[in-house]
This record gives sequence, C-alpha cells and structure tokens, in this order.
Amino acid sequence: SLCPQTITCRAAIAWAANSTLSIEEVQVEPPKAGEVRIKLASTGICGTDDHAIKGLLSAIFPFIPGHEGAGIVESIGKGVTSVKPGDKVLTLIIPQCRECSSCLHPKGNFCEKQDVLPSSGLMLDGTSRFTCKGKKIYHSFRTSTFTEYTVVPEIAVAKIDDAAPMDKVSLISCEVPTGYGAAVHSAKVTHGSTCVVFGLGGIGSAIVMGCKASGASRIIGVDINEEKFPRARALGVTDCLNPQKFKKPVQQVVMEMTGVGADFAFEAIGLSDTMLAAWDSCHRSYGVCLIVGVAPLNSKLSLDAPMIVSGRTMKGVCLGDYKTRDCIHHLVTDYLQNKINIDPLVTHQLPFDQLHKAFELYHAGKTIRCILLF
Ligand code: APR
Repeated sequence: SLCPQTITCRAAIAWAANSTLSIEEVQVEPPKAGEVRIKLASTGICGTDDHAIKGLLSAIFPFIPGHEGAGIVESIGKGVTSVKPGDKVLTLIIPQCRECSSCLHPKGNFCEKQDVLPSSGLMLDGTSRFTCKGKKIYHSFRTSTFTEYTVVPEIAVAKIDDAAPMDKVSLISCEVPTGYGAAVHSAKVTHGSTCVVFGLGGIGSAIVMGCKASGASRIIGVDINEEKFPRARALGVTDCLNPQKFKKPVQQVVMEMTGVGADFAFEAIGLSDTMLAAWDSCHRSYGVCLIVGVAPLNSKLSLDAPMIVSGRTMKGVCLGDYKTRDCIHHLVTDYLQNKINIDPLVTHQLPFDQLHKAFELYHAGKTIRCILLF
C-alpha cells in the first residue's frame, strides 16, 4: 500500500548495561516526516557499539545497538527528498543537517543533531520508533543497525552507488571515514613522515591504511594483543610494539626509536592513558596527535600544562572530519574504482542470528571487523 505500516522483524536488544544482547521480535513504526525506514543488508560491529552496550557512553537502556549499517530504503516519510525506496544507503552516526553552526562552517562536521554525546536514544521529535513486547525500546545514535529494519532521520542517511556490494560497504559508514579519513583528510599525513598508531583494531587498521596511502615511511603500531601484528604489518605497519613487553612507558620507547618523536600520532583505543601516551609520542614542537577513540563518559585527560607551549597539536576527530552526507558516498565510489581497498578490513562475516558468536570473536580480539549479514 502507499501508506507504510508497522513492520515486525528481528532485532538485537541491549536490555541493561553489560548484559548479553538478545535477539527479539520488535515492531518498527513507519517513518515520520523527515525520516527514512531502511531494510538493513549488513552492519559492522564497532568499538563504539561495544562501549555503548557496556554502559560506557550515555546510551539509554533498553536500546537496539549498531550504527555501521548498509541497507536499502524501504519507505520514506513526508518531505524526504534525498532518497527514495529502493536506494542503496549507509547510516551515518554523525548526521549532516546543513543548518547548524558545525554544518554551516567550512570545516565543522560534528552536526548539532547528532545523538552520540550525549544520547537521548530518541528520534529528533523526542519519540522512539521501536517497541518490543509492548515496551518502548530506545535508538542508538539515531541509527540502530542491529535490526532487520530501522528508522533513521533523512539527515543521517547517505545514498550510495547502485553497484556497491552491500555485504561490505557498511564499513564505509564509519570505520573507513573514521580511520582512513583521520589520516588522509584530517591529519593530512605527509610523504616520508613517521606515524604511530595506538590500537590496531578496526579503526587503527583503517588509520594504518590511510598513513600508508599518504606515503608515510615509518608506521609504528601499538597494541597489547600481538595477534593483531601480522595483519597490521600486511597493511603497512613497519614496527609493532606491545606496551606490556616494556618496563618503561611505550611513549618513551617511541621517543627512543624515532629520536625526536613521531610526526603524527593516532589514538584508536578510547582510553585516557593511551591518549596521553599518543600525545607524548609525537614531536614536542610540530607533532600532531589525533584522538579518534571515544573515551568512557566522564573520564578526563591530565596534560603536563607547561609543556603545551612547545607547540604540539592535539585534535579530536570523528568520521575523518568529513561532512558526512556530502563526502562519505565518495569513499564508496573510490572503493568501486579500486582507489581504496577495504577488503583487508573485513576479517569475518556472519549471519545476523550468529551475533553472539560475532561478539565472542570480537571480545577475544580475533576480528578486525566482523560484518553481520541480514
Ligand atoms: N594499549 C594498547 N592497545 C590496546 C589497549 C591498551 N591499553 N587496550 C585495548 N587495545 C587494543 C585492542 O587489543 C584492540 O586491538 O585496541 C584495539 C581496539 O580495537 P577494536 O576493539 O577493534 O575497536 P575499534 O572499532 O577499532 O574502535 C577503537 O575507536 O571509534 C573509536 O569508540 C571507538 O574507542 C573506540 C576506538
């Protein structure tokens, strides 16, 4: 019919902080004005989802997690013009409203309509589109992709090329712009430079790809899980460091290895200690430290205040500073044209109903990215 109805489908719900996700039957309401209902094809499991499920971010329970999604538009609400049913799309954890101070500024991308920091768990009109057993279920980052169908604001939807392989491009919704974009677009890593990447998981691996593509001549990778080292080396890491293998702080090891410190340091773990280590690993004058990981709610950073004057730059970055709706679809086209290769980032693909196995593999440190397929 022309008038979209409520859909009943399967979704994963986080009922309480740190509880095991449970796959339930949920009702997904039709999209309201300015909203889009999407049939998911695939979703990645990102560190940020894990933080939210553990209660480390400001998620409101119970909620449907997930933000790294690729799918097909099923129906649209009133006034939606940028996509139509049948379009291939990505969900965007940071929307682009094109009206707020961030969107109107040439450099800003942290749209004021985002729902990550802080989270309301609700759509822009303050209501939810999900129920389970008659109970209201909250959204996650206004994306919620661990479900067969979701409703997302139009401003958080990017139309992509019709030829996009939907079992993989979900990574271009978040991991690729966040990591690769942080190196090539935000830091603008220079040819011949030395980079250090803290965390060699999904995001860190994409950062390494970006450093390599930018012509960095030395890429130092830091991780406590040495199982990550062979893949990191294959992506371009030249030196792997396990901080637990040294008596001295790893930043001191990086300083000694490089003599003067790295040109660029990236933090892709999400802990204040490793953020400080990244800051202290880069050159005290011209070093640039990019914070890509999301630290737990209410955690603080304590810097050596007098040393700040030496000139180092610290910069936070989400989604590679890309204005999401304007830019992220270009990364899909770049992938289709073999200008970037995201395939090495996909280590596992499992059907959605094997979600628990996917999280086991993730928690055991076995995955770079596991993609769930619907
Ligand atoms: N020191 C070094 N490495 C660590 C440490 C530590 N103290 N703690 C964890 N790690 C490593 C893990 O072994 C893992 O390889 O950090 C990596 C994190 O990778 P993932 O779990 O795959 O998470 P990812 O999706 O890459 O996200 C990383 O970026 O976007 C943010 O919110 C996200 O904060 C998260 C970060």
